[in-house]
Amino acid sequence: MKHTLTVALSLVVLLTGCHTAHTQGGPQVIAVPDDEMTREPSLGPATLGTPTPPPEAGPDATPLPALPTATPAPITTPTPVASAALPKGTAPVRYSYNSCNVDGPYIAITFDDGPSAKLTPQLLDMLKERGIKATFFMVGQNVAEYPAIVKRMVDEGHEVANHSWSHPALTKLSADAFRKQIKDTNDAIEKASGVRPTVMRPPYGATNANLDKILNTQFGLKVIIWDVDPLDWKFRNAERVASQIINGTKPGSIILAHDIHATTVAAMPKVFDTLLAKGYKFVTVSELIAMDQPLPPAPPKPAAEKPKPLPKPVGS
Ligand code: NI
Repeated sequence: MKHTLTVALSLVVLLTGCHTAHTQGGPQVIAVPDDEMTREPSLGPATLGTPTPPPEAGPDATPLPALPTATPAPITTPTPVASAALPKGTAPVRYSYNSCNVDGPYIAITFDDGPSAKLTPQLLDMLKERGIKATFFMVGQNVAEYPAIVKRMVDEGHEVANHSWSHPALTKLSADAFRKQIKDTNDAIEKASGVRPTVMRPPYGATNANLDKILNTQFGLKVIIWDVDPLDWKFRNAERVASQIINGTKPGSIILAHDIHATTVAAMPKVFDTLLAKGYKFVTVSELIAMDQPLPPAPPKPAAEKPKPLPKPVGS
């Protein structure tokens, strides 16, 4: 019964378009560069229902089955599941987040693609000095290379998270290759730090409803996108990175940045100090999504007015 209920709830979520992650940006254009480790073309998440051909798959590989296309919801405005479809007191199942609806000035800053041997320790020093907790979405092969930095993150209260093993677009992989990217990275992070991730970010934000469901149900990973993107991989200018983040942040924001770019790390003292001065409180992604409050169901639409009968003609 419980299993049946879970499946039913999952379907409700899928069919009601709770995946706000997939509506940002235009159609997905994924050109994985050779130097993918140094670039994060934040093209925006994939469109829901995008076919996922497995070009790298051999003839025996089994592509992940497609799920029905869901209706995308506007970004950062989660579509509440109709209350009538759920038992009383049951929160809707949510697989992915662009941002959160929180009752307070809470935000999460996230750093992708590291750790970097040189820059990440500098960033950790900046965070420690200010008592700020961050979330690191790390590439597994970098974790394997610099496990001591990952251990330091955990020791200092940060969240360690999965960003795949080698930064491919997950939507282009065979089922086996996809699972290996996720599992090997979880294993490497756990081996380095003793902590197994519970959140992940797909490279390029490229995902779909089917991948989101598998990541949640089979790997225990919530899918985390973002609502503040300074395009720091593109504009290597610390002042611009800082102003883009500062101006774009609001309560519940999930901020995207990369700790593999010197200009990004150079922007952080200004970002941290300005946002702290504005009263924002930095929490990890898991802490932020734990505070997320589902939006109340939309009020029912007023019944359409019946057309009034024409007045009877008076007189002749
Ligand atoms: Ni990345």
